[in-house]
Amino acid sequence: MNMQATQTESMRRRRPEHASRTAASQAAFLLPHLTPEMDLLDLGCGPCSITVGLAAAVSPGTTTGIDLDPRSADGITVVTGDVTNLPFPDASFDALFASALLQHVADPLAVLREASRVARPGAVIGVVDADWDGELVYPTNAVLRRSTEIAKKLREGTSPFVGKQLRHLLTEAGFVNAEASARVIHHGTAEETASFGSFTAALFRYPAVVSRVVSEGWTSAEELEEMSLAWTAWGQDPGAFVARFWCEALAWAPAFRTP
Ligand SMILES: C[S@@+](CC[C@H](N)C(=O)[O-])C[C@H]1O[C@@H](n2cnc3c(N)ncnc32)[C@H](O)[C@@H]1O
Repeated sequence: MNMQATQTESMRRRRPEHASRTAASQAAFLLPHLTPEMDLLDLGCGPCSITVGLAAAVSPGTTTGIDLDPRSADGITVVTGDVTNLPFPDASFDALFASALLQHVADPLAVLREASRVARPGAVIGVVDADWDGELVYPTNAVLRRSTEIAKKLREGTSPFVGKQLRHLLTEAGFVNAEASARVIHHGTAEETASFGSFTAALFRYPAVVSRVVSEGWTSAEELEEMSLAWTAWGQDPGAFVARFWCEALAWAPAFRTP
């Protein structure tokens, strides 16, 4: 099975909360740096639920969202395209943003180098992404631990540990004065754990995932079903809890570029 196709399919299984993310929930660290009349680019905009809030902050400046599989939104120019090869001229934007994008790409630095190319001198960039290191999951058992190993294999070729590197990668890409911080997202109510459990359970039933895992010989379809049932049961456990780091970084394009 083509891994890129599997990743794209798996990204299309969007978590319900993807569409409920807002600029306030996901871009609060960037909003104070946005001013009216900036031209803004949202890389990997997906459902554009965050983009619309960013657009309000820069209006009457323009807002563009780019994604392999974008959804349209009022007031936003939505472009279907690859963030590793942006279809924009050099120095096109005053503000750039990426949420939950870099963990899904093989080469986050290549994306940030493209972002640097299309950034105007002095442009601000805000990047936010998860880092799977340090994830807390309770309770756990042998089936759930095994499912985590399978999930890690499915993420090979992407960047699930990019969060901690954001400040470094922005600097490598040519941005300056990078500053990073982190917050923790958690699922610790009956509704939240049921949603997290059922989303994770669905992963192990997803046809493209089952087909890839079985053909790679990582485990059997029966064991995948057992993992799926274990995550559904986890979601119903009144003591279940999961927490994960989300890292945020801000940086700026240099005011002057050396040729
Ligand atoms: C987890 S979603 C995040 C969407 C949105 N930014 C948010 O935080 O709700 C990741 C998005 O990145 C997009 N994506 C992944 N790789 C991409 C690439 N190489 N070029 C453009 N978009 C990409 C996916 O299509 C998907 O919409």
